[in-house]
Parts: sequence; C-alpha cells; structure tokens
Amino acid sequence: MSRHDLEGETLLLTAGPTQEALDPVRYITNRSSGKMGYALAAAAARRGARVILVSGPTHLPPPPEVELIRIRTAVEMREAVMSHLEPATIVIKSAAVADYHVKEVPQQKTKKTAARWTIDLDPTPDILAEVGRNKGSRLLVGFAAETQNLVAEGRRKLETKNCDMVVANLVSQEGTGFESDENEVVLVMRAGGNVALPRNSKSVIAEQILDHVLKLRLARHEAS
Ligand code: C5P
Repeated sequence: MSRHDLEGETLLLTAGPTQEALDPVRYITNRSSGKMGYALAAAAARRGARVILVSGPTHLPPPPEVELIRIRTAVEMREAVMSHLEPATIVIKSAAVADYHVKEVPQQKTKKTAARWTIDLDPTPDILAEVGRNKGSRLLVGFAAETQNLVAEGRRKLETKNCDMVVANLVSQEGTGFESDENEVVLVMRAGGNVALPRNSKSVIAEQILDHVLKLRLARHEAS
C-alpha cells in the first residue's frame, strides 16, 4: 500500500542524457541511464502526484501514470521544461544535460578526409539556472554529479542556481551512480546542513529524496 502523501502536487522532472548533434550522423552526450530520474517519477506517481517527465533518450520503459515528454537536445529540454513550468509545484532536474553543443549543425555528414576535425562548441542553455530565476513558490531540486569536493560543489550549485536542495553524488566510485541500479548521495539543504543517504537501490533513494522534498513542502506550508 503506497502513501498518497504527494496528492495535489505536480512534479516536473527531467531525466536521462541529452544528445547534441555534430552532423546528421554523429552526436555528443553525457553518461546517464536515466534510472534515477525514472525511479523518482515512478515513486512520485505512486505517491499520488501528477508527474510530467521530460526525458532524453534512454532504454527505460515509461513509468506508469506519468506524462512522458521525449526530447533529444538541451534546447528541446529547455522548451519542454519552460512550457510545463506553470502547473508545477515541485521541479526536480535529474537530467545529465550536455553543457556544450554545436549551434548550427551542418546539414551534410562531415567526411573523413581531413587529418584532424576541430569542432567549436557553444554552451547550452542552463535550464536549472533559468528555472531558479523564475521559480516563484516552487520547490527546486538540482542534481550534482561530481568526481571530487562533493558537498562543497553541491552547495555552490545550490546557491548559484537558487535551488532548495541539491542531490550530490560521487561518480568516481564503482557500483553507484551512472548506469548502476544503486546510488549513494548527499542531500545538500538550503536551510543548511547535509543529509547523507547510504548506498541503496535507486528506488529506495528516490523515496528518501521525495520524503525530504515533502518535508520542505510542509515546512513552507506551515510558514505561509
Ligand atoms: O552545473 P551542472 O551542469 O553540473 O549542474 C547539474 C544540474 O544542472 C542538474 O540538475 C542538471 O539537470 C542541471 N542542468 C541544467 N541545464 C544545463 C546543465 C545542467 O538544467 N544546461
């Protein structure tokens, strides 16, 4: 029996990688299976929330009872997020968005004739920062995949992007993060302090993240 403690909430979630074309046949991407974001979407829907999931390309089946919007690029993800922001009460950005892309993708395949291929990349739109500037009373949760200084980097991201919580995970250790079914994270909280969630399946970690989001939500209701 699942708790229906997220009833009345609308979660806007992003998951998976983005793919940025270099030409019609090649692309760059980030390592991400989408498993953490899909686990969050499934858990939130089970707990009674309306869930809008904006997903990059993954091999995962769509979670039940979730409105799935498939996108490929960071620009498409931004469009989907901004056009669905209005009804959202909670925004969780677990996608591994590519930080750079080719702005004007060539229409023809680049031939393998040159000795070297140099590509100019421009930054992609920072969706989390844009939501942070326009979040109103919404709760905003970002993710930080780091290889060192986990908590300090998480807090820096929380502050620069105006998040209420950042889920930080170390991606340099074996068995957790990326393609794994397990994760081990630290929740960096806006109000100060961190909560370490020991290694567990991504579905249990998803429930624990939602427990903390709900606590923030209830604290805000009480304060208003
Ligand atoms: O700064 P960094 O990219 O490491 O921040 C990670 C967080 O920012 C994640 O929550 C990710 O979904 C989000 N992000 C974004 N738009 C980008 C890059 C990252 O929303 N262009």
